Amino acid sequence: METIRIPGIDEPASRVGLGTWAIGGWMWGGADDDASVETIRRAYDRGITVFDTAPVYGFGHSEEVVGRAVAPFRDDVLIATKCGLGWGDDEQPFRDSRPDSIRREVDASLRRLGTDRIDLYQVHWPDPRVPFAETGAVLEEIRRTGKVRAIGVSNFAPAEMDALATAAPLATDQPPYNLFERGIDDDVLPYAEDNGLVLLAYGALCRGLLSGRMRPDTTFQGDDLRVYDPKFQPPRYDRYLAAVDALSEIAAGRGKSVLALAVRWVLDRGPTIALWGARTPAQLDAVGEVFGWELTAGDMAAIDDALARTITDPVGPEFMAPPARDA
Ligand SMILES: NC(=O)c1ccc[n+]([C@@H]2O[C@H](COP(=O)([O-])OP(=O)(O)OC[C@H]3O[C@@H](n4cnc5c(N)ncnc54)[C@H](OP(=O)(O)O)[C@@H]3O)[C@@H](O)[C@H]2O)c1
Repeated sequence: METIRIPGIDEPASRVGLGTWAIGGWMWGGADDDASVETIRRAYDRGITVFDTAPVYGFGHSEEVVGRAVAPFRDDVLIATKCGLGWGDDEQPFRDSRPDSIRREVDASLRRLGTDRIDLYQVHWPDPRVPFAETGAVLEEIRRTGKVRAIGVSNFAPAEMDALATAAPLATDQPPYNLFERGIDDDVLPYAEDNGLVLLAYGALCRGLLSGRMRPDTTFQGDDLRVYDPKFQPPRYDRYLAAVDALSEIAAGRGKSVLALAVRWVLDRGPTIALWGARTPAQLDAVGEVFGWELTAGDMAAIDDALARTITDPVGPEFMAPPARDA
């Protein structure tokens, strides 16, 4: 396992982190808690020490399952959770970084996680109704109590990070980043490099599209977000599958699977941790295949060429953005 250091945390962080959104059982067609606990423990056995969760992932459920699963080895892992999203009885999330709300949220997360500190506390989405410096100030107030060890954000633009960092030591950002979603290449990625931030790249497998499992007739059930994810809709879906075929050929040239290539690509782009959204232990079998090699400049060029040839009508992950709070 490769590691990286998150500013403010001495213990090394694994460069693959387990993403536990699906484990919360919301927006991924349901979850099996026993399989989730086994998956989290298998991740630890495979050297993964970063576990990313959020209150909104199953409205507390993901945090509870993560807390229970890591309890036997709590001191050996880093728990990353989030604040700044609220929801009502309709379970529709909205952005809410009001200071009092964040103060309540941190205590609720600690309780659900069954722990006395959160290693990395991230603002899930920028709230345009609260000045970012005010959000930074409340996070720093909480950090100084010891409830939180390091402060991060997610889905923030550089100017928003600059504003928040006037009031708090910012350690990380968590943007979408994968072979098909490269919106951070020209701004957030260089910003992280210039400011010593670590990026927790989410959707490293592009919601499974880059796993190699998807077929033209693959369907999704229940509340699975891929039912309406624009990449999974015809005719675009066929173009993305063609891109996966082209990427698989490049991966095969290195003796690797397309999944390993996709995660390796995220790691070789900068100071990143790739969040891998597994929900069964077997899905983590490929973790070892990610390490011990690097993509060459020639591989990177071949990848860019394959993407340009196959994806003629790209679309981003914007459909996932929650709305601002009502005035
Ligand atoms: N901050 C944010 O706003 C934000 C947004 C999105 C995600 N995230 C974080 O990032 C994490 C990862 O992103 P993600 O969950 O969106 O997606 P992801 O990691 O790109 O993809 C997850 C999906 O990939 C499939 N998969 C995983 N391993 C596989 C394997 N070995 N073989 C075949 N398929 C495999 C699974 O699909 P199946 O369901 O088909 O099994 C899984 O549901 C999340 O869990 C969360 O922690 C954060």
